[in-house]
Amino acid sequence: MEMRIGQAPGDTRVMMEGISKAFGPVQALNDVKLALYPGEIHTLAGENGSGKSTLLRILGGVIRSDTGRVIVEGVEHDFPNVRAAMREGVTVVSQELSLVPALSVAENVFLGHQQVREARGINWKKTQAACSVILNRLNLDIDTSVPVGTLPQDQQQLIEIARALAFESRVILLDEPTSSLEPNEVESLFQVMRQLRDEGVAIVFISHRMREMLEISDRYTVLRDGRFIDTAPAEGVDSSWLIERMVLKRRATIGQASVTTGAAAPGRVQLVEVDKLRDRSGRVDGVSLTLFSGEIAGLAGLAGAGRTEFVETLVGYRHRESGSVRVLDKEVGGTTRDAVKAGLSLVPDDRRYKSAVLDMSVRDNLLLSSRGAPWVPRSKSQEGAIVRGWVDKLRIKTSDIDAPLKTLSGGNQQKVIIARCLQVSPKLLILDEPTRGIDLGARAEIYEILRSLAAEGLSILTVSSELEEIFQISDRVLVMHAGQLSADIPRAEATEQLVIAAATGHLQ
Ligand SMILES: Nc1ncnc2c1ncn2[C@@H]1O[C@H](COP(=O)(O)OP(=O)(O)OP(=O)(O)O)[C@@H](O)[C@H]1O
Ligand SMILES: [Mg+2]
Repeated sequence: MEMRIGQAPGDTRVMMEGISKAFGPVQALNDVKLALYPGEIHTLAGENGSGKSTLLRILGGVIRSDTGRVIVEGVEHDFPNVRAAMREGVTVVSQELSLVPALSVAENVFLGHQQVREARGINWKKTQAACSVILNRLNLDIDTSVPVGTLPQDQQQLIEIARALAFESRVILLDEPTSSLEPNEVESLFQVMRQLRDEGVAIVFISHRMREMLEISDRYTVLRDGRFIDTAPAEGVDSSWLIERMVLKRRATIGQASVTTGAAAPGRVQLVEVDKLRDRSGRVDGVSLTLFSGEIAGLAGLAGAGRTEFVETLVGYRHRESGSVRVLDKEVGGTTRDAVKAGLSLVPDDRRYKSAVLDMSVRDNLLLSSRGAPWVPRSKSQEGAIVRGWVDKLRIKTSDIDAPLKTLSGGNQQKVIIARCLQVSPKLLILDEPTRGIDLGARAEIYEILRSLAAEGLSILTVSSELEEIFQISDRVLVMHAGQLSADIPRAEATEQLVIAAATGHLQ
């Protein structure tokens, strides 16, 4: 067991108390405290916008707080700038690296260093040697004479840390240092962090990756909405401890979500009820949910969570093992025909293999699901009118409805498939990755189409792997994990952090 110095208050290296900071109307920090001990890696956890960076920027002298005290090694400071903080041994390493790309590694490490400035003629040989000593301390094998700009991003970040050491920093603040690193690069950064920690440096670490926090931290402080929530040593902390504190308030709302959604959405009809649906493969492992008319529900989850399997089971593409599906209170059987009759229609995830017949015309693709139905006999001209109606409504760009589908752009092909599904007059339109491989313009158009369909009262369930898309189009966010529904959150309550927590099984 290594001895960790300093849990005693007298040993506190940094003490921040009563820190508040407003940016115009935004109260970024409200009476926040933070204590840092020598020789610890202290993770600052919190959702986006909780105030983590603001707190570090205040400590590092980048910005000033409105109120509060910053005490470094027993002395109160109000750092007017970064240099003043560095003089007291506090260095903030932000994502916007402050290195000068054209200068050498050694020059950057000692840039603005007191000794260098004072020496009239700078002895770069000595500087390089001193730089090598620091790099050795970090077990880094980097040529000190090459321009920093030629190094990969992860090494540049390490050079910034070396620079902090050149300034004899005893407090190093790392704001999301891993966000653009590859896993092996993260590992070497962690080695450097551990090395410094063992030398007694206090390190603050910020990351949105749960795995990283749990791996590296000795202690945690959690912020939420600009407030201090809790602080604890790593021994008592696991992912649910963190998530509860980061999202506690919202979590309370989740519990009620399934109860309150219906009430919160007056005028919406409870359209589809899925109860403990299971498929034969077990990939869909007891999903229950309710979908409403006029609503877009976004289904998020990681690859392999069972989202595609779920929607395919819903429309009878996959064998149902157990559970029930009801549309407007009427039981729906497990075949594709049952699903279509009940008004469930799926735009599958892989257009090329599952839905689009590329050599067939736009007209034939669009009518593929509805033409065979014996109850709708139609003439060629009636068909043409229907197809042109959809081409208009969904603004499908094609010169000729009898041209092969493959002559259309991906976005327009997708619109044809959506039209095909709408042509059977569904009550619930399900889309699996509707904008995959589609450009931005067509994406926006598809979102617009979905919104206007929902406004007409259609219920829409859309599976997407892009959180941004989920947030952009959904009224409600559903999350699947390991074949089950792990969250059902109204859009206003949904945050990236919360969805990720649910997708990784941290919210049950
Ligand atoms: N310079 C600024 N001007 C205006 N508002 C700001 C500024 N800096 C931060 N804020 C606001 O203050 C709040 C806290 O932001 P901060 O960047 O500290 O959060 P964070 O916890 O670091 O979030 P993230 O995890 O997204 O990096 C946010 O609402 C943010 O929009
Ligand atoms: Mg930040």
